[in-house]
Amino acid sequence: MGMHRTVVISSQHIMKEFYTTNDKFVASRPQSSQSKHLAYNYAAFGFSPYGSYWRDVRWTEFMYGSVKSMKKINKELDSIIDAWVQEHELRRLNGEVETKQDFIDVLLSAVQDDSQFGNSRETVIKATIMTLIVGGSDTTSITMIWMLANLLNNRRELQLAQEEIDQKVGRDRPVEESDVENLVYLKAIIKETLRLYPAGRRSCPGLNFALQVVQLGMARLLQGFNFTTPNNEPVDMTESLTLSLCKETPLEVMLTPRLAPELYQY
Ligand code: HEM
Repeated sequence: MGMHRTVVISSQHIMKEFYTTNDKFVASRPQSSQSKHLAYNYAAFGFSPYGSYWRDVRWTEFMYGSVKSMKKINKELDSIIDAWVQEHELRRLNGEVETKQDFIDVLLSAVQDDSQFGNSRETVIKATIMTLIVGGSDTTSITMIWMLANLLNNRRELQLAQEEIDQKVGRDRPVEESDVENLVYLKAIIKETLRLYPAGRRSCPGLNFALQVVQLGMARLLQGFNFTTPNNEPVDMTESLTLSLCKETPLEVMLTPRLAPELYQY
């Protein structure tokens, strides 16, 4: 076309050859004056010919992008955690004794000085808080997503779990932590979920806490709503291994309330 040689492909078979099997031979861009003069003589990878330069730059850009966004997230999280620690430290120094000590209060009294763990006291405390947030958020929500996805593919068990909650708690008040002990069917489903999507070689120090969160969270969800999938389709259970074993496709659910409206005003 114009000064460029052009090939028109009209066969599906040849198209497949071009874009899958032999795609690297046609992955370059035509040389143009824009690419030469505006894109640093093909140095901007979007304009450069496919080859080792393109692959190296793409890869480096990918790593640089990840490191850059990790640094940004770390900075944002650090400033939030820093404010929490300062606030707690100030209350301690002012002798304001809390009736209930929270986790940061405990850390502040457990880590006494800089010499303890080879890092500054502040770093140890902030790093521990960060570890718990990072280690505790995704893992817990991913477990709940797998559990719900499995229940949506096993509607009889979903119904039995809801019936157990109706029988042992009723529908006039929300499930409380003290109810969970009696919800044996629900607890068995959670154990089965953790067996199917297992928890690795090193043991998890947050597991007891996580179990309580998952038990109460799932009990409230199942008590509060009926669940279906769009068009009542089965859930795609393909796994995707990132840092945690999560679902390849997002879980889509349709909710309908099961309780009186005032019970949703938490
Ligand atoms: C259902 C939810 C959870 C699951 C499935 C889970 C799973 C795991 C697994 C598999 C490991 C070991 C990873 C390895 O092999 O190195 C681990 C470690 C860890 N988890 Fe959890 N976790 C959950 C919730 C939590 C929560 C809520 C917290 C904190 C509040 C937490 C804190 C940690 C920490 C600090 C480690 C590192 C332990 C070490 O390296 O010695 N986890 N978790």
